[in-house]
Amino acid sequence: MTKTLTFLGLESSCDDTGAAVVRHTPGDAAQVLSNVIAGQTDLHAAFGGVVPELAARAHAVKLDLVTEQALAQAGVTLKDLDGIAVTAGPGLIGGVLSGVMLAKGLCAATGLPLVGVNHLAGHALTPRLTDNLAFPYLMLLVSGGHCQFLRVDGPQAFTRLGGTIDDAPGEAFDKTAKLLGLPQPGGPSVEHEAQTGDPARFAFPRPLLDRPGCDLSFSGLKTALMRARDAVVAEKGGLTRQDRADLCAGFQAAVADVLTEKSRRALALCPDISGFAVAGGVAANKTLRAQLEQVAAPVPFLAPPLALCTDNAAMIAYAGIERFRTGQSDDMTLSARPRWPLDSTAPAMIGSGKRGAKA
Ligand code: KG4
Ligand code: ZN
Repeated sequence: MTKTLTFLGLESSCDDTGAAVVRHTPGDAAQVLSNVIAGQTDLHAAFGGVVPELAARAHAVKLDLVTEQALAQAGVTLKDLDGIAVTAGPGLIGGVLSGVMLAKGLCAATGLPLVGVNHLAGHALTPRLTDNLAFPYLMLLVSGGHCQFLRVDGPQAFTRLGGTIDDAPGEAFDKTAKLLGLPQPGGPSVEHEAQTGDPARFAFPRPLLDRPGCDLSFSGLKTALMRARDAVVAEKGGLTRQDRADLCAGFQAAVADVLTEKSRRALALCPDISGFAVAGGVAANKTLRAQLEQVAAPVPFLAPPLALCTDNAAMIAYAGIERFRTGQSDDMTLSARPRWPLDSTAPAMIGSGKRGAKA
């Protein structure tokens, strides 16, 4: 199918309610006509993590509103669309259900095609949305809920080369910030503190580097950080600003080193790729980006702008267009899936983390 397609995308799998309109003509760069996101950080702040029931209710309230805004900002009405794409999993089931029900309602009312999208496919296809990157390429997904290496051969052809066996790195950044009394989300606060810290003062472990392959682990690092903090507090009765900065710098260096070495291994498994791309909130980290760019050479390194790196509906609209072009769509039996691995042949990952399934 070579015609220009305009899709509405809906995203509600975790703690961001998103609606976006994307237009794409084969051979041209895709156009993000609108990309509206309503976050829920304040709603969950007091609980130290996303509360699924609260998230689902907020999605149900906000989805209609963000959809209206996305259509208005794009300057289109439902009549101008060629289809509606919605995240059908993996994620927190109440939120995913809210999105799927709205998409079904809109498709039933308008007769538009309904296209269910895997949230992870949305992230994984983002370098095509932003840079028209040719298949095959390597993707590192690093966020608060996901951490995996994917070889991407087509709109629905993904091979998982490795992933976390416990926490996602964003979770570890958030936990580190909490342990050090820094504001959430933890990634930006830890990165900020680390700027004035000495990464060599605390010897943090580099988990799983002694094992072959591309799997990762971050829960041990969290524990190591807590022990190091407790040792300083026991010795001095508290943490100075410099202690905090050194702890942040040491932790960040450990995460970046592990991700860099595992990326080197994943790249070695893919000698034929057109690029190495990252997505997810943790990909905003400058130390990490710089190290990944170095290890990617000579293949190009791609890091999408932050609004398209973190959870958003533009990536869902775009992934829906790519799937629709292969001749696929769904009907009213489309179901919401809490777990939905992109690569059904890879062994299931252990652990699901507080931000939901990593499938
Ligand atoms: O992709 P995202 O918005 O949501 C999902 O979790 O899916 O990622 C959010 C995560 C949070 O854990 C946050 O602390 C982390 O990304 N993050 C960062 C940075 N900015 C955000 N981690 C490290 N360095 C950053 N600069
Ligand atoms: Zn995500």
